[in-house]
Amino acid sequence: MDAMLVTGGAGFIGSNFVRYALNRYPDTQVVVLDALTYAGNLSNLDDSKDSDRLRFIQGDIRDRSQVDEAMRGVEAVVNFAAESHVDRSILDPSSFIETNYNGVNVLLEAARRLEVKRFLQVSTDEVYGHVPAGLSAEGDPLAPRNPYAASKAAAELLAQSYYITYGLPVLITRGGNTVGPYQYPEKVLPLFITNALEYKPLPVYGDGSAVRSYLYVEDHCSAIDRVLRNGQPGSAYNVGTNCEVSGRDLADRVLEILDRPANLREFVPDRSGHDLRYALDCGRVQSLGWRPAFDFDTMLKGTVQWYVDHQPWWQEIRNEDSYRSYYRKQYHER
Ligand code: NAD
Ligand code: DAU
Repeated sequence: MDAMLVTGGAGFIGSNFVRYALNRYPDTQVVVLDALTYAGNLSNLDDSKDSDRLRFIQGDIRDRSQVDEAMRGVEAVVNFAAESHVDRSILDPSSFIETNYNGVNVLLEAARRLEVKRFLQVSTDEVYGHVPAGLSAEGDPLAPRNPYAASKAAAELLAQSYYITYGLPVLITRGGNTVGPYQYPEKVLPLFITNALEYKPLPVYGDGSAVRSYLYVEDHCSAIDRVLRNGQPGSAYNVGTNCEVSGRDLADRVLEILDRPANLREFVPDRSGHDLRYALDCGRVQSLGWRPAFDFDTMLKGTVQWYVDHQPWWQEIRNEDSYRSYYRKQYHER
C-alpha cells in the first residue's frame, strides 16, 4: 500500500495506529486528517512528526473540500474520526450525529468518487447494545442504546449501503473498550489513574457491577491493520478480548497498583441507560490470523506506568477549561 488516509489520526487510537503503520510499513505514506477537537492532540504524534512519510492536515471530515484534498491519491482510508465519549453524547448528542454520521457520509462520497481501494470504518461493540449473556456475533442485530452507539451504528449501515449500492470496498471493525497510551483522561481507566495520582476520588457509576472486556490499543491497531489488508469487503469484524472486569474491581486494582487508599473509590449516580455488559465472539477476525498479545494484567500495569511517566501530557489536558467544565457537569452537577 503506497498511501493511506487516517482520519482522526491525532486522537487516542488513531495516533497509535499512525505510529503502528509508519513503523510496520517503511514504504507507506500516511496522511492524517484531524479537526483537533478537544480530544485531538498533535503532541500524540510527536514521535512521528519528523517522518517525511507523514503529512498532517488540520481539517474536518464534514468538509468536502478538505476531505477531497486529503483523500486524493490514497489507496486506503481508515476512519477513526468521531466524537467518542458516551457520557458526552448523553449530555448533548448533536455533535455525535454531525461527525459520526454526516462526516462519514462525506468520507464515503469522496471515497466513491476517488475510487479508493479499501475503506475501513472503525466501529464499536456498542452497536450490539447491552448483552446480558453470551457473545455477540457479527450477524446479530444492531441494537444501540445511547446516542454515541446509535450514531456509530447508523454510520456502519450507511457504509454498508455504499458497498452494496456502489461496490465501494468497505470494511468494518467493531472494537471493544480500548486502553493504553495517549487516551484522553475522561475515559474510565485514564480518569481513574490520573485521579488516583492526584489523590482524588475515583467515581464508579452505580453499584460498579457493569463490566467491560478491555483491549490494549496496540492489539486494536494490529486487528484494524489485519482487516484492512485481509478482510472481506462488505464484512464486519468483532475485535476484542473476553476478560470481563467490573468498574468496582477496576478502581480497586488502580488504587492497589498506585498504592493509594482504598477509600478513594466512590460510588456516584449511574450513567443513564448504562450498558452493563458487552461480549464479543472474535472468531471471524481470528480466522484472519489475529490474536490479542496483551492480557488484562499486562495492559493495566503498562497503562498505569505510561500515565506515571507522562504527567505533563495529562496535566496539561486536565488543566484546560474545557476539561474542568466537562468534569464539573458530569461529576458535580449531574
Ligand atoms: P478520540 O476521541 O480519542 O479521537 C477522535 C479523534 O477524531 C480526535 O483526534 C478528534 O480531533 C478527531 N475528530 C473528531 N471530530 C472530527 C471531525 N469532525 N473531523 C475530523 N476529525 C475529527 O477517540 P478514540 O477513542 O481514539 O476512538 C477512535 C475511533 O475508534 C472512534 O471512531 C471510536 O468510535 C472508535 N472506537 C473507540 C474505542 C475506544 O475504546 N476508545 C473502541 C472501539 C471503537
Ligand atoms: O466498548 C467500546 C467503547 O468503549 C467505545 O466505542 C467508546 O468510544 C469508548 O469510550 C468506550 O465506551 P465505554 O462507555 O465502555 O467507556 P467508558 O470509559 O466511558 O466507561 C467504561 C465503563 O466504566 C462503563 O461501564 C462506565 C464506567 N465508568 C465510566 C466513567 C467515565 C465509571 O464507572 N466511571 C466513570 O467515571
